Amino acid sequence: MKAVTWHGKRDVRVDQVPDPSIQEPTDVIVRVTSSGICGSDLHLYEVLGPFLEEGDILGHEPMGIVEEVGSEVTELSAGNRVVVPFNVSCGACFMCGQGLHSQCETTQVREHGTGASLFGYTKLYGQVPGGQAEFLRVPFGNTLPVKVPEGPPDDRFVYLSDVLPTAWQGVEYADVPDGGTLVVLGLGPIGDMACRIALHRGYRVIGVDLVPERLERARGRGVEVLDLGEHEKDLAEVIRGMTDGRGPDSVIEAVGMEAHGSPGAKLAQQMTGLLPDMLAEQLMQKAGIDRMHALYLAIDIVRRGGTISISGVYGGMADPLPMLTIFDKQIQLRMGQANVRRWTGEILPLLTDGDQLGTEDFATHRVPLSQAPEAYEMFQKKEDGAVKVLLQP
Ligand SMILES: NC(=O)c1ccc[n+]([C@@H]2O[C@H](COP(=O)([O-])OP(=O)(O)OC[C@H]3O[C@@H](n4cnc5c(N)ncnc54)[C@H](O)[C@@H]3O)[C@@H](O)[C@H]2O)c1
Ligand SMILES: [Zn+2]
Ligand SMILES: [Zn+2]
Repeated sequence: MKAVTWHGKRDVRVDQVPDPSIQEPTDVIVRVTSSGICGSDLHLYEVLGPFLEEGDILGHEPMGIVEEVGSEVTELSAGNRVVVPFNVSCGACFMCGQGLHSQCETTQVREHGTGASLFGYTKLYGQVPGGQAEFLRVPFGNTLPVKVPEGPPDDRFVYLSDVLPTAWQGVEYADVPDGGTLVVLGLGPIGDMACRIALHRGYRVIGVDLVPERLERARGRGVEVLDLGEHEKDLAEVIRGMTDGRGPDSVIEAVGMEAHGSPGAKLAQQMTGLLPDMLAEQLMQKAGIDRMHALYLAIDIVRRGGTISISGVYGGMADPLPMLTIFDKQIQLRMGQANVRRWTGEILPLLTDGDQLGTEDFATHRVPLSQAPEAYEMFQKKEDGAVKVLLQP
């Protein structure tokens, strides 16, 4: 089959690789019909190279049609339409029982001390072959895939794999009081969808980014937007001015470790690019490098006693945090990889009872799998208005 594979920094290719096959009696094989490229894939494309091996298959936002099922799969059969969550979670362990599917104890990568395995996401997360491919082997066929109805186009459901539950959890964790105000930093797919969900729940939403078409898109749906480019110095002040001088009840950080405004990240990438892999790996894991501009902004912006919900992905151990401010302002901090399977049941009605979150217009680009290299480049450089790209094998 054809699959998108990693070959080095900013080097992904479409290779011919062996088809996946059933390995456990509860496996299913899915023929992928749509597969998203995620902001998280851009970290693989740019800074997380030390954790990948040449030929690793990327992608963690797939949906498609069940092609084959293992002998113990009773809940699905060939021909069913399914979305595959990005966490590989068993659905039966203690953590899955708590709704903490991103911490699944059956698939935790103990060797690296990390949580649940993820499709297409580095050795730190189990080096599981990903879903930007023609076919995907999916374990836990009775509990992991989300069955979706026939009828509406893939766009309606494909975001159940990641964008929707990530944004949903971001809003849940933000703990906005009824009628309260939420600031969303970053209007990529995750921030944009978080805004939609927050508006749907009746909150006042202020969105921040620096890409004109992303700001415009959010404004079009009723978000009050601020351009970071125009407010590099006074963003927090301006937002306090819009919120009774106090700041918003909650902030979602939907940017992550490659924020605009953190020159340290660039330096780290250049440095790790020059080092042998072992050393580079250690540097990315341990070195304290200032790549947290968006998080610092969130700490500054949120009102006293408010909540910061971090959806953006972070790495590193020694990044300095302004503990005095966090403690003094009594800020509640919540974060983590989305627990996809925890939220899919709650979200599904917003997709089947009409298209309440505007998923059908959410993708800006749909391209064949063979054009993945160009699509990655376009998405990373934010060219041609790219906000969300779907690959269609
Ligand atoms: N927690 C999870 O389970 C989960 C799931 C998916 C994605 N993510 C992470 O969420 C983040 C966003 O993902 P995405 O797909 O929307 O990616 P993206 O890269 O398209 O979006 C990031 C946006 O932030 C903007 N930005 C950069 N610096 C900023 C700053 N200082 N202030 C405000 N905005 C700034 C960029 O212009 C961009 O529009 C990434 O870090 C991704 O890895 C986490
Ligand atoms: Zn993703
Ligand atoms: Zn589990």
